Order: sequence, then C-alpha cells, then structure tokens
Amino acid sequence: MLSLFGICVSFVAFIPSVSSIALDVDSRQSILNATALLAHGVQELYNGNQSGGTIGKWPYPPYYWWESGGAWGGMMGYWHATKDESYDNVMMEALVAQLGSNYDYDTPEEAFNTGNDDQAFWVFDAMSAAEYGFPAPPAPAPDWHIIAQNAWEDYVYRWNTTMCGGGLKWQFHPENAGFFYKNSISNGAFFQISARLARFTGNQTYVDWAEKIWDWVEGIGLMSSTYDIYDGTDEKINCSAVDHHQWTYNVGVFLYGAATLANYTNNTQIWVDRTTGLLAATDSFFTPYENATNILFEAACELQSACNVDQWSMKAYLARWMATSAVVAPYIKDRVGTLLRASAQGAASACTSGQYGNSCGSRWYINGFDNITGLGQQLSALEVVTSLLVLNDSVAPRTLPNVTIPTPPLSALPTTVAATSDSTSTANPLHDPPPNGASKRATTKYGGLLVGLAHALV
Ligand SMILES: *[C@@H]1O[C@H](CO)[C@@H](O)[C@H](O)[C@H]1NC(C)=O
Ligand SMILES: *[C@@H]1O[C@H](CO)[C@@H](O)[C@H](O)[C@H]1NC(C)=O
Ligand SMILES: *[C@@H]1O[C@H](CO)[C@@H](O)[C@H](O)[C@H]1NC(C)=O
Ligand SMILES: *[C@@H]1O[C@H](CO)[C@@H](O)[C@H](O)[C@H]1NC(C)=O
Ligand SMILES: *[C@@H]1O[C@H](CO)[C@@H](O)[C@H](O)[C@H]1NC(C)=O
Ligand SMILES: *[C@@H]1O[C@H](CO)[C@@H](O)[C@H](O)[C@H]1NC(C)=O
Ligand SMILES: *[C@@H]1O[C@H](CO)[C@@H](O)[C@H](O)[C@H]1NC(C)=O
Ligand SMILES: *[C@@H]1O[C@H](CO)[C@@H](O)[C@H](O)[C@H]1NC(C)=O
Ligand SMILES: *[C@@H]1O[C@H](CO)[C@@H](O)[C@H](O)[C@H]1NC(C)=O
Ligand SMILES: *[C@@H]1O[C@H](CO)[C@@H](O)[C@H](O)[C@H]1NC(C)=O
Ligand SMILES: *[C@@H]1O[C@H](CO)[C@@H](O)[C@H](O)[C@H]1NC(C)=O
Repeated sequence: MLSLFGICVSFVAFIPSVSSIALDVDSRQSILNATALLAHGVQELYNGNQSGGTIGKWPYPPYYWWESGGAWGGMMGYWHATKDESYDNVMMEALVAQLGSNYDYDTPEEAFNTGNDDQAFWVFDAMSAAEYGFPAPPAPAPDWHIIAQNAWEDYVYRWNTTMCGGGLKWQFHPENAGFFYKNSISNGAFFQISARLARFTGNQTYVDWAEKIWDWVEGIGLMSSTYDIYDGTDEKINCSAVDHHQWTYNVGVFLYGAATLANYTNNTQIWVDRTTGLLAATDSFFTPYENATNILFEAACELQSACNVDQWSMKAYLARWMATSAVVAPYIKDRVGTLLRASAQGAASACTSGQYGNSCGSRWYINGFDNITGLGQQLSALEVVTSLLVLNDSVAPRTLPNVTIPTPPLSALPTTVAATSDSTSTANPLHDPPPNGASKRATTKYGGLLVGLAHALV
C-alpha cells in the first residue's frame, strides 16, 4: 500500500469526525458544497503530480490504471456540473499524459493491465471532454472526439469472429489472462462509445456498429430478455455458457448507449424500449434491505463486504450513466431522480471521516461510516451526488456543428417511466450463489486464474 493511502487511513484512525457531509438534496447550494468536499476527497488520494507518482494515475497498487480513467471521468463530470475549474489543469495534464503515442489511450507502460474495458474508461473521458466542451488538448494531440475515434478503430480491428460469432475479448494482449474471455463491460463500452460517436458526428457507421454489438451481446446470452447483463462468456467453449454475475456498471454502460441512440434517432421505439428496459433492470441494485429504500448497492459483493478495490468504484459509473441517460431521455428522469436522490443522501451520510470530514465509507444504508475506504468509495459518493446537478440542469451533450439532434415537442416524448417493480422489496438479484472467486474483477483479473474458468460457467 502506498504512502498516500496510508496517510488517508491514519486520518480515519486518529482524527475521527462526528458529523457527516451535510446534504439537502433539494438545495443546489448544499449539493455544490457537498460535491466540492467529495471532489477534494478524490484528489486527496491522487499522487500523480507528486514525486514518486505518475501523472494521471492514482497510486498502483492498489489502483489499476483503468480506475484512474474512471476517476478522471468523475472529475470531468464534476467540472461540467459545477463549473468549478479548480482541477482543470491537473485533469488536462493527466488526460494528456496517458494518451499514448497513437492518441487512443493504449500505452505500452500499462499493457499488463490494459484490456478493452480498461482502455474504455479513459476513452469515456475523451468522449465527455468533447461533449462537454472541455478545452482541446495541446498540439500535436488531436481533438477529443478524434481520440475517441482512434480507440473505436482499435475496437473494430479487435472485433473477433474466430469464435462465438463475434465480440470483443476482455484482453487484447494475448499474454494477459482473460484473452479468451468475452465480457459485457468491454462490449458494452464499445457499444456506448459507438452510440456517443454516432450522436456526436452524425455518422451512420457508428449506429450500424452499435446495432451489431447489441445484437451479438443479446444473441450470445450476455443480456437476458429482461435486460439483465451478465458478466461474460468464454470463447474456449465457443461462448456456449455465461457467468451470471451482475455488476452495476454493466447495466449502466448499456443504458447510456441506448439512451443516446434513442435521442439521436428521434426516439425510435426500439431504443426507447431498450432504454426503459435497462432502467428497470437497475432495480436489482437498489434497496438492499427494507430499511434502505432506493439505496444503490453493489449486489454481487457488498452485503458480504466482499467487494475488491475495482468493484467498490462501480456504483460511480452506474450513477453517472443513469443521470446522463436521463438528460438525453427525459422520460426516465423522474424514476432516476427518485433512485439517485435517496442514494445520494445515503452516500453523504457515509462520509464522516478524514481531515475534512469528507472521507467516505462503502455502504450507504447504515447511516454512518464503515471504515472501508478508498478511491472507489470516494468516487462513488462524488458521482452519485454530482448526478443530482446533472439531472436538474440537463445540459445536452454537444455535437459537431453540422449535426442536428431532433427535439420533439414535449407532447411527443415517450411516457414517463415510473417504478417497474416493488422498490421496497428486498433485492435478491443474483441467479447464482454469491461469488466464490469466479467474479471477474475479483480474482481473475491479472491474476492468471482464468484457467478452468469454463468449468465455473453455468
Ligand atoms: C432544480 O431546478 C429548479 C428549477 O430551476 C430549482 O428551483 C431547484 O432549486 C433545483 N434543485 C436543485 C437541487 O438544484
Ligand atoms: C455552503 O458552504 C458555504 C461556505 O462554507 C457556507 O457559507 C454555506 O452556508 C453552505 N451552504 C449550504 C446550503 O450548505
Ligand atoms: C497536484 O494535484 C492536486 C490535486 O488535484 C492539486 O491540489 C495540487 O495543486 C497539484 N500540485 C501540483 C504541483 O500541480
Ligand atoms: C481473434 O481470436 C483468435 C482466437 O483466440 C486469435 O488467435 C486472434 O489473434 C484474434 N484476432 C485479433 C485481431 O485479436
Ligand atoms: C460458435 O458459436 C457461434 C455463435 O453462437 C455459432 O454461430 C457457431 O456455429 C458456433 N460454432 C461451433 C463450431 O459450434
Ligand atoms: C460534419 O463535419 C465533419 C467535419 O467537421 C465531417 O467529417 C462529417 O462528415 C460531417 N457530418 C455530416 C453528417 O455532414
Ligand atoms: C464515418 O465513420 C467511418 C468510421 O470511422 C469512416 O470510415 C467514414 O469515412 C465516416 N464517414 C463520413 C462521411 O465521415
Ligand atoms: C435529446 O436530448 C436533448 C437534451 O436533453 C433534448 O432536448 C431532446 O429533446 C432530446 N431529443 C429526443 C428525440 O429525445
Ligand atoms: C437495516 O437493516 C439491515 C438488515 O437487517 C441492518 O443490518 C442495518 O443495520 C439496518 N440499517 C439501519 C440504518 O437501521
Ligand atoms: C479503520 O481501518 C483501518 C485500515 O483497515 C484500520 O487500521 C483502523 O484500525 C480502522 N479503524 C477503526 C476505528 O476501526
Ligand atoms: C421527431 O419526432 C417527432 C414526434 O414523432 C416529430 O414531430 C418530428 O418531426 C421528428 N423530428 C425529426 C427531425 O424527424
């Protein structure tokens, strides 16, 4: 464990604070105050610009490269929602430092921990930078959306029909464990990036690919008829069975892609149905107990406190993508708002520790701090609270100047989506027993433990 993390932990031990972050979910100023504290908490863990650090990266170990991409995505969202420019310089420096010589977020230094999904968490930042009008990177780097396009071309090249009729593998470096695994987050990221590039550029090629990826994911059984998204499948068995673990970020990554396509295609029924269906599928990740209505939790590991460093960050991405989906699909806004307001309140109550009382625990339904801290916990709290500003302000993502997004009259919008199931019932989302070591980001990632994975699939 690196020193900065150690310091953070010692705040926990020696400078306990009694009150949590104050949050009134109906007050813009209160939300702004809370997000400022939470963003600062994310940056307190960053050591990339200090001696011994690497620009752009939170300390590894424990944080794999992808999570730094995820964390800058949270900071990008924070800047966009609050207009607080305090971290813009440090963010620009970070996003440029990790670009790689082909300007696609594929760098040789990080090859050992770069799969298609890892790369994608940086590409999302480039896409957001384009959509939010973040200043362009300094020459010779191209514009942000060109960087996203470069990575998209990588994915097209890596789309692999040798087995399983298509799909992206998890890893693209053959020496990394996971080269034969085809997972939902990699394919979902390719899908979402295709959708966002379609909307941003107006180029039909990206729509065609988004449809192709969706069809493969659905056809191979990684998505159920009720839009549950399963972890992945293995080309060694020609993808004839899937690992059924469900993670928050998987449903989120498809949700924002579907909502973006619904928006771009002027609410064609198929993308509206998929958007509302995916939103309904997020129900599995809310209301862990009857006393915790509408609180977001990582169902596959959280109740056992068994989430790993990667998994503790996933709630951040679901919250982010639910809110950004509601911006482009206003008919889901009420339902998303209900879920995220309750969750944000819970998250704020979990942040009581550290020098500024802004260090967050992991669980949002215990009305207090559980002393399980880290970048993922901090980022999740930041993103769920920031999402309240995103929902309320609803600034449409930008496009190239020659692209027009249809804005149908309110009367022509799809019917507002309400709760689709009894949201006070205890969630029991897993179709499989709790993880026993088979969960992807838990123990298989970089651990060389994929040998025999096929036997774990059902
Ligand atoms: C949301 O917007 C409304 C109308 O502009 C405003 O009155 C309200 O204070 C805002 N709420 C938040 C939480 O920003
Ligand atoms: C926000 O923070 C400022 C500065 O600390 C404080 O004066 C103000 O009362 C806070 N507002 C709310 C609504 O919490
Ligand atoms: C390093 O980053 C932190 C966190 O964003 C920031 O507060 C600090 O000013 C930066 N330091 C330098 C030397 O850039
Ligand atoms: C496609 O998958 C096959 C089988 O795993 C592998 O040998 C090949 O290198 C892959 N092609 C690409 C472009 O990754
Ligand atoms: C492998 O799976 C693909 C997709 O389901 C299927 O089209 C193909 O026929 C399968 N190949 C074999 C040899 O079973
Ligand atoms: C919009 O302009 C870009 C160049 O800025 C061009 O590449 C693209 O083809 C144009 N798209 C449409 C839909 O006209
Ligand atoms: C659309 O995007 C594809 C893939 O990047 C590209 O090959 C093609 O030239 C683009 N078409 C236009 C009109 O810009
Ligand atoms: C697309 O999203 C924008 C931004 O919220 C919205 O104004 C517009 O009405 C949406 N268009 C459709 C077709 O939903
Ligand atoms: C809610 O219920 C769960 C399970 O019974 C319990 O562990 C938890 O402490 C309760 N939370 C509160 C705030 O009472
Ligand atoms: C909090 O967790 C840290 C790190 O695991 C541990 O060293 C410390 O003793 C814990 N503090 C309390 C009050 O349990
Ligand atoms: C979008 O759909 C609405 C409602 O069906 C319709 O009134 C409008 O003309 C469409 N806009 C475009 C650009 O197709």
